[in-house]
Amino acid sequence: MITVVGSINLDIVATGPKLPRPGETVTGAKLARHPGGKGANQALAARRLGADVRLVGAVGADEMAGEALKLLQAGGVDLSSVQHVNGETTGVALIAVSMDGENQIVVCPGANAVLRPADVEFVETEHMMGVLEVSADTLLAAARKATGFVSLNLAPAMEVPEELLAEADLISVNETEAAFYGGALHQLEACIAISLGSEGATLWRKGKEIARATPPKVTVVDTVGAGDTFTAALTVGLIEGQSPQEALAFAVAAGAVACTRPGAQPSLPKRLDLDPYL
Ligand code: RIB
Repeated sequence: MITVVGSINLDIVATGPKLPRPGETVTGAKLARHPGGKGANQALAARRLGADVRLVGAVGADEMAGEALKLLQAGGVDLSSVQHVNGETTGVALIAVSMDGENQIVVCPGANAVLRPADVEFVETEHMMGVLEVSADTLLAAARKATGFVSLNLAPAMEVPEELLAEADLISVNETEAAFYGGALHQLEACIAISLGSEGATLWRKGKEIARATPPKVTVVDTVGAGDTFTAALTVGLIEGQSPQEALAFAVAAGAVACTRPGAQPSLPKRLDLDPYL
């Protein structure tokens, strides 16, 4: 069982001809709403790839909560540790997507910000995945309880206590996040995965590259959730006992397939969807 400790959002998405520059207004976009949040996306991605998954998180006691949890519920993620918090709104991500699939995201955390270490105290945790859209203290409490593999996605980039980094078996970042954390990541015991967008990804241990994978060629529609899919697939692959090279190729293929459909959670691939690419 993988316990994911992370955010749950409702994504409000405007897909338009291009992304606005600061101060610019872009019109002609189409509006859509999808369940999202990095934690929820990673939980559902791992579940669709065959893992048993529990999500620890928080939503508001509002009408957006049901919409945000709908695909997790339908997908068979255990939501018994998700709290409905009075007086808070469900997290919302305002997302602009351009015709070539690039995106900009602004997150209003709402209930995600109130998840505390006490909320993981009574949750059984074998393997654990965590993402920084909930507090580092909460992730640390969960990571310390985990008896198995600990995977941390250091997104969005921010200062993180060293004790938390020391608990990780795997740390995943994209290029921007890798630049923020710098060489310090390579001093850690954990494997470091760096996703490179259309270039694929690399896996490092103690400053040495141990695997590299390039993605299959796909038609990119929307990259939202691709990084979450990559992290979840890599974690599932390594927990299953795949070699670092196999697991990285599996993760890169999963991330690429997630780019071929719109929306974070609607685009998450099932295992069968990856067969043509492996
Ligand atoms: O990684 C993509 C996710 O980031 C979106 O679903 C959005 O909710 C933000 O949390």
